[in-house]
Amino acid sequence: MSDRQLATGITLGKAVLGWFRLLNDPGAMLIRPFQSVDPYPQYERIRALGKVVPSRLGMLLVTDYQLCNEVLRDPAYGVAPNSEVGQPDLGLDGLVHPLEDSFLFRNPPEHSRLRRIVSPLFTPRAMHERQGRIEAIVDDFLDQLAGRDEFDLVGEFAARVPIKIICDLLGVPDAEHRRMTQWGTVLAASIDGMGSMGQVRELRATLRELNDFLAARIAEHRAEPNDDVIGRMLADGTMTEAELLATSGLLLAAGFETTVNLIGNGVLALLANPAARARLVDDPDATDAIVEEILRIDPPIQYTARLSLDGALLAGRPVPAGKVVLLLTAAANRDPAVFPDPHRFDPDRPNAREHMTFSSGVHYCLGAGLARMEGGIALRALFRRFPDLRVAGTVQRRPSRVVRGPLRLPVRVTSRQPAAIG
Ligand code: HEM
Repeated sequence: MSDRQLATGITLGKAVLGWFRLLNDPGAMLIRPFQSVDPYPQYERIRALGKVVPSRLGMLLVTDYQLCNEVLRDPAYGVAPNSEVGQPDLGLDGLVHPLEDSFLFRNPPEHSRLRRIVSPLFTPRAMHERQGRIEAIVDDFLDQLAGRDEFDLVGEFAARVPIKIICDLLGVPDAEHRRMTQWGTVLAASIDGMGSMGQVRELRATLRELNDFLAARIAEHRAEPNDDVIGRMLADGTMTEAELLATSGLLLAAGFETTVNLIGNGVLALLANPAARARLVDDPDATDAIVEEILRIDPPIQYTARLSLDGALLAGRPVPAGKVVLLLTAAANRDPAVFPDPHRFDPDRPNAREHMTFSSGVHYCLGAGLARMEGGIALRALFRRFPDLRVAGTVQRRPSRVVRGPLRLPVRVTSRQPAAIG
């Protein structure tokens, strides 16, 4: 496909969406050019239409918790790479895309083969061993804010912690953090699909740079083996160069902005719920429950999709192969049949951890344990350091429908030194 055809495809796609939006199509209403400040009323409108809601865009929308869970766990549904769901060919010319070409977009058995190689780095024990390092990283970034009265919580804290942790995993030096941040931002924005040729060109340039960068890291690891993620993949000895590039890139693409937004959404939720915020500061044992409720009520990833394969059923009825099913996991997290009084922030709800923010089934987030730990450590340390932290300007939201969270969150604080030991 030439760039001219691609540009026409993008323009036509936007026109169709706009037209269906005018017709009030529930799918088109969801796929807005920009995420609304509050997408949750729209999910409730879809829920009111039924458990399975067809859209003129050709997909089925699901808000029901039980059904989302069933589809995500059902081998009669697979992941839906863009190339298989009628999205235009972006002309990536052999470049490896960390989302599309990684095991996130592979079905078993290929998925299981690749996931198994990196899984040992994410076990509870491996996480426990990382805890001290993550606490030190968080404290260091908070120290750097000492003496400041105002700062952008996202740019100067929430975005710095996850990038540093991913770079640690991949053995990437500090000097490269800025570039990793830029690449991660472009990749996260690409999840929504391409809105313009400018965005396509930016994605191509990013993938070219990221592919070269990761290929160089892999070559370094070949010359000097070690036991970080790349070292472990090389030691396995079965992965192709493209699989090595895709899996390394996946950790950046999947683990960066998701966690940034867990911290950003967490700050907003805690500012709106002072009792939970006080508990977070006073009682370390309350941290896990508070983080789960933040993940449930305002997920960094709002939905995912699956493609029906032969013999797929949905709510007991056959679905033709090749149908896209949009699983609105952020809506499933507010299914009143599973989470009573679902719009209320309540860290005491006994089943908050059953949310679907990390998906379900074989693609359940590999980094869930890491994200939970990072979120808990970052939020607790932040509010302990700055007990009077408050919003100091306009909160700017990310221009994404899938990735939810603040892009800029100006805050004001009264700086104080870290509490002395004892
Ligand atoms: C709050 C933070 C995070 C959220 C909300 C999140 C969410 C998700 C979701 C929803 C999926 C599955 C998508 C699907 O089923 O279609 C997923 C997969 C994945 N995530 Fe996360 N994630 C987070 C943090 C992380 C971190 C920190 C890492 C690692 C550094 C990570 C690595 C992965 C990987 C490797 C997969 C692919 C799993 C597979 O396909 O088997 N994630 N994540």
